[in-house]
Amino acid sequence: MTQTLLAFDVYGTLINPGAMADLLRPTLGDSAEAVAAQWRASQLQLAFRRGLMGRYVEFSVCTRDALDVALAAQGVEVDANTRDEWMDAYSRLPAFEEVDGALASLVAAGYRCVAFSNGTERAMHEVLGNAGLDRHFEALVSVDDVRRFKPDPVVYHHLTRRMNVAHDHARLVSSNNWDIQGARHAGLKAAWIHRDKTALIEDPALAPDIEVERLDELARELEKGT
Ligand code: LAC
Repeated sequence: MTQTLLAFDVYGTLINPGAMADLLRPTLGDSAEAVAAQWRASQLQLAFRRGLMGRYVEFSVCTRDALDVALAAQGVEVDANTRDEWMDAYSRLPAFEEVDGALASLVAAGYRCVAFSNGTERAMHEVLGNAGLDRHFEALVSVDDVRRFKPDPVVYHHLTRRMNVAHDHARLVSSNNWDIQGARHAGLKAAWIHRDKTALIEDPALAPDIEVERLDELARELEKGT
């Protein structure tokens, strides 16, 4: 039987962008959490917007622009060197605590694992390498190859084509509700790592066939043969 390919979203699923608040705190104090949250939300919104307009840029450009948006929204001024330092730190964000062990178990169980992100292959290589996770992946697949962003169906089709698997033998694993719905819309299976309890699947027709709270609960659900 062909083993299902597991394609792991990176930011929010394996790597924790929320940890950026700790780095911002010495400079921003009480505003750190709000800026970090807005930075992430704006990064996604700018990528979605760029995708709709067909004005693709590397995801890191969206990240940098989003930092300016977040600082402006919170009424905070920060010098260019500090912003550069924070951008550099984006490649050293930590993994969620259970991720390394969970990936090791899935690889040991024979699953083909790839990372699949809006970030470039180089950005994935850096952040996953720094977090000690890169050894688990057979490939790092970036939307940059097709110059579109998730959740455009083109990028999920690119994943299956590049890895040479049928859509029903590919499963996206993501904490991002919009990514899950994008993958389902494109005909892939999907496992939602439901880390953010305030997030919903807004379109029930695009619900994931697996939902767990942590990545180390995924193997058990996969064994049930869904
Ligand atoms: C990723 C982000 C956008 O694709 O979640 O890794």
